[in-house]
Amino acid sequence: MSTLRTASQRLSGLRLAPKQLARGIVQLAPRSSQPSLSPSLSAVRRSGPSVRQQPDLLRAFSTSPAVRHGHVDPPKPGEELWVTFIDKDGVETKIAVNKGDNLLDIAQAHDLEMEGACGGSCACSTCHVIVTDQEYYDKMPEPDDDENDMLDLAFGLTETSRLGCQVVMTKELDGLTVRLPSMTRNLQASDFK
Ligand code: FES
Repeated sequence: MSTLRTASQRLSGLRLAPKQLARGIVQLAPRSSQPSLSPSLSAVRRSGPSVRQQPDLLRAFSTSPAVRHGHVDPPKPGEELWVTFIDKDGVETKIAVNKGDNLLDIAQAHDLEMEGACGGSCACSTCHVIVTDQEYYDKMPEPDDDENDMLDLAFGLTETSRLGCQVVMTKELDGLTVRLPSMTRNLQASDFK
């Protein structure tokens, strides 16, 4: 009995004749008299105006800027900082860069041989560079634990080794020179899990 009552309550929005109910015939009432759905749901179910045409249904859509590895913008005149790369053959490349650029992006933007296998997420050692001048090395913030862990995997580690992706150019580093090692080990953190 109570089941019948519940069913009848659920069907309260439908127009049913007692005989039809008894025979199990259910006829939907005209659309206008059907219980209304929530405004947003009814809008989705209608084939009428699209959601785009109903401002109240629009929700803010946001994106975060894409990370562009290997891209750096040329510095404005007067704002250049200078960094020099020495490749494994001893060829020097002096580059004008912006404050905030990191050595991996700079090297890749200028087609220098720096692999950056993990895309700059401090999970490999293929962006290993050797700072030629201890004075500049001391001006850099200390490497954190993640960087030190990856440096331990680097080929030809030295006292002034750093990961290029973790070295960000600042005014203090203007004039920095780094050497690229003769080879790198493409070992990533995931190789040790
Ligand atoms: S690119 Fe992998 S640690 Fe720098």
